[in-house]
Amino acid sequence: MHNKQKLQKHSWLDHAVVYQIYPRSFKDTTHNGVGDLQGIIERLDYLNDGQGGGLGVDAIWLSPIFCSPMIDFGYDISDHRNIDPLFGNLEIFDELVAQVHKRGMKLMLDFVPNHTSSSHPWFVESKSSVNNPKRDWYVWHDPGPDGLAPNNWLSVFGGSAWTFDEQTGQYYMHTFLSAQPDLNWHNPEVKKEMFGIMRWWLERGVDGFRVDAVPHLFEDKKLRDNPPNPNYVPGQDDEYEAQYHVYTNNLPETLALIKEMGALLDEHNAAMINEVRLGQRGDHLRDFYEACGDNRTCQPFNFRLLNAPWQAQTYREIIDKLEKLLWPDCSANWVFGNHDMSRLAIRLDRPRARLVAVLQMTLRGTPFIYYGEELGMIDGGLPPKRDDQRGKKTPSRDPARTPMQWDASKNAGFSDTEPWLPVGIDYKEYNTASELSDPDSFLNLYKVLIGLRKTSPVLLDGKYESLETGSDQVLGFTRNLDKKKILVLLNFSKQPQVLSLPQLGRPGLLCATEPSLRPEQEIDCQKLSLNPLESLVLDLRL
Ligand code: BGC
Repeated sequence: MHNKQKLQKHSWLDHAVVYQIYPRSFKDTTHNGVGDLQGIIERLDYLNDGQGGGLGVDAIWLSPIFCSPMIDFGYDISDHRNIDPLFGNLEIFDELVAQVHKRGMKLMLDFVPNHTSSSHPWFVESKSSVNNPKRDWYVWHDPGPDGLAPNNWLSVFGGSAWTFDEQTGQYYMHTFLSAQPDLNWHNPEVKKEMFGIMRWWLERGVDGFRVDAVPHLFEDKKLRDNPPNPNYVPGQDDEYEAQYHVYTNNLPETLALIKEMGALLDEHNAAMINEVRLGQRGDHLRDFYEACGDNRTCQPFNFRLLNAPWQAQTYREIIDKLEKLLWPDCSANWVFGNHDMSRLAIRLDRPRARLVAVLQMTLRGTPFIYYGEELGMIDGGLPPKRDDQRGKKTPSRDPARTPMQWDASKNAGFSDTEPWLPVGIDYKEYNTASELSDPDSFLNLYKVLIGLRKTSPVLLDGKYESLETGSDQVLGFTRNLDKKKILVLLNFSKQPQVLSLPQLGRPGLLCATEPSLRPEQEIDCQKLSLNPLESLVLDLRL
């Protein structure tokens, strides 16, 4: 059971808006077409200048910046205690920490505990012989009786999770690419070393970690085969879904480890956001919350709305269900995009992405914004012969990683040379410079919403309550704190919707997705209709 008293206190994460930067794509200052840490420093004022200006985010999460052969763009680490020269060095990193803190923001790094790069010195040693002291730092096994892989485990990126090593005659296991061998977390030396790495960054001033690929940390010691998933549709579902990953995902040891990591981070008032998968059978979200114990700055990512069908009723059900699953004072979060997903404005479309912005900033829970979503950026094209490493059959994730669109100049102001990925096709219209001067832009919508959220105790801490709106196309809810209420209405349809709302006092308009269509500040809830794909945030003066 949770220590309720301790859970009453809020953590900085509860009230933060977190912004994810994909460092390769934010700002290039070294003229090589790839973003770097100095570029991030130069653009910090855009995020928050510390004086009330900028987008107003409170924390930044950087995708990996450590030394890496970049086969999975940094999720394949070859030195955990250094910065890849592509991005800078430790001195620039220290400056980044200082500059982030000077503006009152927090800095979170990506921590990748499940695997290393195959060129990490640990793996090079481990691979050198079966008797090497680091052999057991990774998951090695003899071939099965047929001479093939030891069991049926699959790699998330396709094919078997096992690769044969000719030199030592054994297979090693990799949840992702063969260039990303899994660490063996059953080995206490691995744990000691990885905890040491976390401590090292915390002592350098880091305010927390987004922890990568958490469900995969432990594998069954007996190497039992995963059972088939009877719901798998070949040719339609991802090949990885062909099995129930009972022996490779979310083992009980994982939850115990999260608890220990959470305690370490709690000592430093640092955050831990765990990347978990939606369960194939049932839900592990609550387990991961419970694993965080008393640490309020520890949360699992909540991806439940990421791919939800665009229906007001479905969204309502998902949100209501989550609210029921979590205890009232529990920290929540909502994720709508990241570096692994197609961009919001493509998965949905731009008008719908604006509704999502309103939803994300008004729901209970920490919002995570993927860089460029605040501009309405769309997926880009890939240069010929370039793809990421997920293999040919799965679509590349790179289209959602195109350069940040700063202005309408060549290369969108990202770089003075050809960027590593082509800039988005409509960057001349969708960029920070032009959007700042347009009151109806994405950027200004995000700024208004973030400003509203930060200054509204109701939006920060208020209870969520679902509301019947009289239209099944309109999602409605209130956030309530003491005697204050904020009402949020979102029309999911392309048709106007007439609402029938209970008597709600005299609502004042706080935010509208299309401000120019809503000139009046006072709204009569008894005669309210919403424009197609319109959303309103209303202050209910009771
Ligand atoms: C990250 C991916 C990465 C994978 C392997 C994921 O969860 O978000 O970008 O490829 O882990 O580290």
